[in-house]
Amino acid sequence: MDKSLQEILQEAAEKFAAAADSHALYEAKMAFLGKMGRLGALYKKLKELPESERPAFGAQINELRRAIEERVAVIEGMLHARELSARLEGERVDVTMPGRRRRQGTLHPVTRVKNMLIDVFAGMGFEVFEGPEIETDYYNFTALNTPADHPARDMQDTFYLADGLLLRTQTSAGQIRMMEQKKPPIKMLSPGRVFRSDDDATHSPMFHQMEGLVVDKDITLCDLQGMLDEFARVIFGKESKTRLRPSYFPFTEPSVEVDVSCHACGGKGCSLCKGTGWIEVLGAGMVNRRVLENCGIDPDVYSGFAFGMGIERIAMLKYGINNIKLLTENDVRFLEQFKD
Ligand code: PHE
Repeated sequence: MDKSLQEILQEAAEKFAAAADSHALYEAKMAFLGKMGRLGALYKKLKELPESERPAFGAQINELRRAIEERVAVIEGMLHARELSARLEGERVDVTMPGRRRRQGTLHPVTRVKNMLIDVFAGMGFEVFEGPEIETDYYNFTALNTPADHPARDMQDTFYLADGLLLRTQTSAGQIRMMEQKKPPIKMLSPGRVFRSDDDATHSPMFHQMEGLVVDKDITLCDLQGMLDEFARVIFGKESKTRLRPSYFPFTEPSVEVDVSCHACGGKGCSLCKGTGWIEVLGAGMVNRRVLENCGIDPDVYSGFAFGMGIERIAMLKYGINNIKLLTENDVRFLEQFKD
């Protein structure tokens, strides 16, 4: 090989040996073998030579190319091996490290209270019935003795849908569906979501209610209070008592608000019960004769009581939760407090 070409080979070998990684080696390789590199220049020079000198010079350039390629290949092999082992080292898995634990979830306080309520009433022989969340105006209002022009409709801000449908405002709609399907004796518990256009610290547009309905011969308000006393003892503690106050619902007559003695102060009066010793927890009453008639049940033979409570409200009272939004935000720090 010509001396000047040998110098190029020498220079290439030094550059390749100095390459720190395969990227640097590639750059160096292109500087010699690339179109714009040193060999490129030699090929250009070849074209300018007189024809007679071209074969010999061409052979020399080819020899130089092969020699350079050989050297590149050797260094390339070394660098690849080095880089591969560095990568394997970096990605090595330490099998002795502790695994990622799955955190165990907890039942949501609303679910928890719902289950407790079902337990209390299932123990008394109630069966669970879940009605639809999208209801007809008939089941949610009219059959419950609340026709379209009835002022009591204003008690509940309703989300109306098309074609006489609405999002049920109360689980009471389930009473009608049950009484249409089944003749007395009836003992039904109906938990589920209800919807009202209402939104503040203690009201949310979607919340849960639990409805109870008993229809049979000789059912009285005393039966209602007896069952609610048992409910209060299980949910709020053994010493709890209930008290009935007159109220109004179109589908019950008489209607009552049910208060439970304050579980925080035992009835002495505190900030939770606003000094009264009592907390209002639910609405109830004797099923209105008209409602029984609407369902084809003879009110002269049968009587019944119904009650309805907000599950969020019971959960908030039971656990001392002061904002209903905490129940829908699902902040894990909040929910974790309800572990068994
Ligand atoms: N449905 C009533 C409400 O949502 C509660 C209720 C149910 C009252 C059953 C009486 C009887 O306010």
